[in-house]
Amino acid sequence: CGIVGYVGPQDARDVVLEGLRRLEYRGYDSAGIAVLADGELTTAKKAGKLANLEKVLAERPLPAATTAIGHTRWATHGGPTDRNAHPHVSADGRVAVVHNGIIENFASLRAECERTGIEFTSETDTEVAGHLLAAAYADAPEGAGRLAEAMRAVCRRLEGAFTLVATHAAEPDTLVAARRSSPLVVGIGETADGTAEYFLGSDVAAFIGHTRNALELGQDQVVEIDRARGVTVTDFAGAAVEPTAYTVDWDAAAAEKDGYDWFMLKEIAEQPKAIADTLLGRLGEQGQLVLDEVRLSDQELRDIDKIFVVSCGTSYHAGLIAKYAIEHWTRIPVEVEVASEFRYRDPVLDRSTLVIVISQSGETMDTLMALRHAKEQKARVLAICNANGSTIPRESDAVLYTHAGPEIAVASTKAFLSQIVACYLVGLFLAQVRGMKYEDEIAAIVDDLRKLPDAVATVLASMEEVRALGRSLADADTVLFLGRHVGFPVALEGALKLKELAYIHAEGFAAGELKHGPIAVIDQGTPVVVIVPSPRSRESVHGKVVSNIQEVRARGARTIVIAEEGDEDVVPYADHLIRVPRTPTLLAPVVTTVPLQVLACEIADTRGYDVDQPRNLAKSVTVE
Ligand code: G6P
Repeated sequence: CGIVGYVGPQDARDVVLEGLRRLEYRGYDSAGIAVLADGELTTAKKAGKLANLEKVLAERPLPAATTAIGHTRWATHGGPTDRNAHPHVSADGRVAVVHNGIIENFASLRAECERTGIEFTSETDTEVAGHLLAAAYADAPEGAGRLAEAMRAVCRRLEGAFTLVATHAAEPDTLVAARRSSPLVVGIGETADGTAEYFLGSDVAAFIGHTRNALELGQDQVVEIDRARGVTVTDFAGAAVEPTAYTVDWDAAAAEKDGYDWFMLKEIAEQPKAIADTLLGRLGEQGQLVLDEVRLSDQELRDIDKIFVVSCGTSYHAGLIAKYAIEHWTRIPVEVEVASEFRYRDPVLDRSTLVIVISQSGETMDTLMALRHAKEQKARVLAICNANGSTIPRESDAVLYTHAGPEIAVASTKAFLSQIVACYLVGLFLAQVRGMKYEDEIAAIVDDLRKLPDAVATVLASMEEVRALGRSLADADTVLFLGRHVGFPVALEGALKLKELAYIHAEGFAAGELKHGPIAVIDQGTPVVVIVPSPRSRESVHGKVVSNIQEVRARGARTIVIAEEGDEDVVPYADHLIRVPRTPTLLAPVVTTVPLQVLACEIADTRGYDVDQPRNLAKSVTVE
């Protein structure tokens, strides 16, 4: 979910709505806003995308205000209806709250409220927080800090994960918020005439149009924002905490569509830059890696005897690619696992295990829980992350930031390519510190890394045919993706993109596994996308994939072949041939993924879907 709060001299309605627009990628099942004007709270909320709420507001405008909160939802408890949309208001009408996360003990708290005669108006877990807060406010001592005191009292009773932002009708210049395992950042700005203004957001996108000065909030903290007193942060017990200030290095323009039909198209186009920025300053002139920010000592890096890569969704596919590269370069065994499984199966971890967590947002709850589990088991944790100041890097021992800039489309593209590149950097760095088996190969690879931005730009320059192909595939019921070696995770990613954007059934397979079952689904005309490794790849993997193309074609498949420039072996068996520049085998996923992104985007667009906000999904899933 996305949360926004504002208190300051501007019209809070506009600021909060703009913030919601920028955070809509975090969830778009429903949206709502509450404003505090003349001692009264007024709310408007609506199921569906933010546009539905905007329509309601155009017909029935809310009063102008200087304090407001807003929410854009990805439903957990209670379906995406008007009633279940946030903000939720207490029975006395005095408190409005928005919430992200899950209050796990809400059932017993709800029963307790109901015993006092409160009637609930929604099926959400959130509503209970509004009622409890109203009661706690009545009990809290009068005077400055009363709402914050009430929030602390409520938070001490809540179990689960939550970000809560609340406003009280009696406190027109105050917002109070709390966080436990869910994201929340504070923005501190100043209007042209020097008046202070304050923002709350699930992430900095909520306010980068207004200020770049932000405060990170830690685990189990409450923040009170008051126009007269400024920002006060405490823990849940009330002890003062010094928050960490930081400057946001993303600019507002980076989060605009910039003439593209979809954010996703813009982000695909930005990939050469995302890769170049992720490499920037990290490759030394003598082909050595410079990763000063990895705060693990050489001795710690030498002691590592096993690596886990843990992540979700597209980030998991980056992890699968990392395995091939890191094992090959370092000879350290690497296991890759989806975070939601890793955490709960009691993996074998100790001090000499390195756990690499990959997360674009730095907030994915499954990944965060896996990270915490790894730390409890004394493993070292290195995060690869795109969002500065987010929870996952803050809780990790070390972090390597990808510099892809803000990614707004729900389906990940430029963040994915930059994650793969960051994984290469980690692998090569480990090899450098520990001594490497393939010394010559590594110097050459560093050189090849530098060529990746241009290689991706070359692929992007020739996507017209892929788009035409996409339009011709718009009616497909099922599409299969095949690859071997690093082409296998690319096949998985190609299938995921198609599923999430175009809602077409798609599956990725290890090409060699095809004959052990999946080949049975191939029928006359079934589209099969094959990612062909370089003819220079080891152990004749190339030849085996060429045979696999023939096998599917013999059974009626329509073959779509992605192969490197100059590979003539594939020509006779390709119904459609997509060329990519020559790239060393381990680095190839960075170029072969690109046509698959374009293909999925074009198919979804042709089918008339919202490419940036596919149904049922959210960019950052902050529940388990
Ligand atoms: C969500 C998104 C996916 C993303 C995954 C992991 O499910 O819809 O696109 O890959 O989360 O996100 P992360 O921010 O941890 O990389």
